[in-house]
Amino acid sequence: MRFGRELAGALEPRCVVLLEGELGSGKTTLVKGVVAGLGARREEDVNSPTFTLVHDYGHVSNGSIKGLPTRVYHVDLYRIEEPRELAGLGLEDLMADRAIVIVEWGDKLRDTGAARRVRVRLENLGGEDRRIVVERLEA
Ligand SMILES: Nc1ncnc2c1ncn2[C@@H]1O[C@H](COP(=O)(O)OP(=O)(O)O)[C@@H](O)[C@H]1O
Ligand SMILES: [Mg+2]
Repeated sequence: MRFGRELAGALEPRCVVLLEGELGSGKTTLVKGVVAGLGARREEDVNSPTFTLVHDYGHVSNGSIKGLPTRVYHVDLYRIEEPRELAGLGLEDLMADRAIVIVEWGDKLRDTGAARRVRVRLENLGGEDRRIVVERLEA
């Protein structure tokens, strides 16, 4: 959660964060930190949108980043089995919005079309230890 809060400070509108890592590696926990860091929701109010697939957390604190009104969406693709199932989710619309979109199981999203993509890979090292690798993906 602490790392998520740090990461939040580096995010801008039209940024897609792709989270990768096995079940229990801490993806949802990291999202709690990011969303709280953005000031959109409290950590305890962020939970995995496993059944709804998309949570809309509204605007960041103060409503905008760098003068751009910015919303925060949390997507969980755990239940998606085939690429064609992505079509009905309206992810393009979320990304076209001036939003920050955080995606669990982001490896299922091959091409987002978003200019700013950040890939975060989590690895469970046992106990409370996690390795977190963050990469900026080239457009
Ligand atoms: N670094 C950690 N140390 C201990 N428990 C953790 C850690 N990260 C996450 N957890 C716990 O592991 C469980 C699964 O975490 P979660 O964030 O839901 O993983 P994921 O979304 O990757 O499946 C939760 O109960 C969470 O509180
Ligand atoms: Mg999760």
